[in-house]
Amino acid sequence: MDKIVIEGGAPLKGEIKISGAKNSAIKLMVLPLLTDQPVELTNMPNLRDTRSMAGLLRHLGVTVEEGPGPRMFMHAPKLASTEAPYDLVRKMRATFNVLGPLLAREHKAKVSLPGGCAIGARPVDLHLKALEAMGAKIELIEGYVVATAKGGLKGADITFPFISVGATEHAILAAVLAKGETTLNNAAREPEIIDLANALNAMGARITGAGRSEIQIVGVKSLDGVSHSVVPDRIEAGTYALAAATAGGSVRLVNVRSDHLGSLWPLIAQAGAKVTMDETSVLIERNPKTRLKPVDVETQAYPGFPTDLQAQFMAMCCLADGVSIIRENIFENRFMHCPELARMGADIKVTGREAIVRGVKQLRAAPVMATDLRASASLIAAGLAAQGTTHISRVYHLDRGFEHIEVKLGNCGANIRREKE
Ligand code: UD1
Repeated sequence: MDKIVIEGGAPLKGEIKISGAKNSAIKLMVLPLLTDQPVELTNMPNLRDTRSMAGLLRHLGVTVEEGPGPRMFMHAPKLASTEAPYDLVRKMRATFNVLGPLLAREHKAKVSLPGGCAIGARPVDLHLKALEAMGAKIELIEGYVVATAKGGLKGADITFPFISVGATEHAILAAVLAKGETTLNNAAREPEIIDLANALNAMGARITGAGRSEIQIVGVKSLDGVSHSVVPDRIEAGTYALAAATAGGSVRLVNVRSDHLGSLWPLIAQAGAKVTMDETSVLIERNPKTRLKPVDVETQAYPGFPTDLQAQFMAMCCLADGVSIIRENIFENRFMHCPELARMGADIKVTGREAIVRGVKQLRAAPVMATDLRASASLIAAGLAAQGTTHISRVYHLDRGFEHIEVKLGNCGANIRREKE
C-alpha cells in the first residue's frame, strides 16, 4: 500500500491543469451500454474509479481502450452479459448506474447493491423507485437487484422526495430509450448532469431542462455514437484552490469552469485569499504570513456549496483566527476527517451535523489516515500547511478521484512524495 509524505510549510507557487471530472466521467462511461455505435470520451481522467468502471464494462462485453492521452474509446455492438457482480460493483457506488441502461437495452439486468465511500448509509431507493415508475419489476435477491422490463421501459412522471445526483442521472439514462415522455421533478442540477445530457443529446436523445429542477426526456428508438469532452472537475479545482488558500502562495488553475464553483469563490475571498478569474482559469493568492479569517459554511445541492469540498474547506478553517461553523446537510456521516485533523493539532468539536472549528495558529505534522476520497484531500491541504513531516496512509482512497495529485502539487513547489508503506 502507498502512503503520501509531505514536508509542510512551503507556500505553493505555480500552475495546475485540472483534469476531466471524475463524477462526470464515470457516468459518461455507461453510454456505450445504450448504443451499438462507438463512444469516445476526451479530457478523460485516469483514476482508480474510471478503471473500476472499465473493468465492469469489459465484463458486460464493452470493448474499452484507454489512451492515447486523456482519451477513452468504448464500443459494444453486442453485450456479453447483463449481470454486474458484487466484486466489480462494491468498489464504487456509481457502477450501480449500469442497471438503468442494461434495462433500457436488454430489458433485464442483475446488479449487485453498491459499495463506495463510507460516508453514510447511501441507499439506492430513489434509483429503484424511478425505474419502477418506468415499468421495471424489481426484486432484491441475496444482495442483488434483479430487474426486468418486459416490452421495454415506459416514460413516467417522477418526483424525487429530495435531491439526488445519482438518482437523477440514473433516471435520465433509463428514460432516453423508454417509450414516451418522462418528467423528472426536483431533479439535481449539478454541472455533471448537464454534461451527461449534452452527451446523450449529441447521440440523438431528446432531453430538455438539464441544469434545472424539472427535466423532460422524450424517449427515442435508438442512439448514435458520440465523441464528447468530459467537463472539467470542479471538485479537483476547488480542492487545489482550498489547498492554496490553506498553505498560502499563488496558484493558477487552468482548464476550469470557474462558473461551476460560484459558491466557493466568495468564501475563499472571505477567508482572506485573493481570487482572480476568467471563464477557464482562476488565480488564488494568499500571503502565508497573514492569518486566515473564519468562515461559516453549509453544504447544499448545486448550486449550493458542495459536500465534496467540505473536508478541504475545514482544513482551511483549522488555521483561521476565530471560530468557523461547518454544517453538513447532504450526508449524515461525513466528518471522519475531524479526528485525523485533530491529530495534527486542529481544534474541532462535532455535534450532530455541525462541526465547530476553533482556528489554531499552527498545525503540526502527524501520522494520519485517509478515511474517504475527499477527506484524504483535506489531510493533504493540512499537511502542506503543517510544521514537520506528515505521513498519510491509505491513499488508495485518494487515487480513486485525484489524478497525479503529488505531481500536480510538486510542480507548485510542494515537498510531497509517494512511498510504499
Ligand atoms: C454524488 C457524487 C458524490 C457527491 C454527491 C452529493 C458521484 C459519483 N458522486 O453521489 O461525490 O458527494 O453526489 O453531491 O457523482 N440518497 C438516498 N436514496 C437514494 C439516493 C441518495 O437516500 O436512492 C441520499 C444519500 O444517502 C445522500 C443524499 O441522498 O444522503 C444525496 O445523495 P446523492 O445526491 O444521490 O449522491 P450520489 O449520487 O451518491
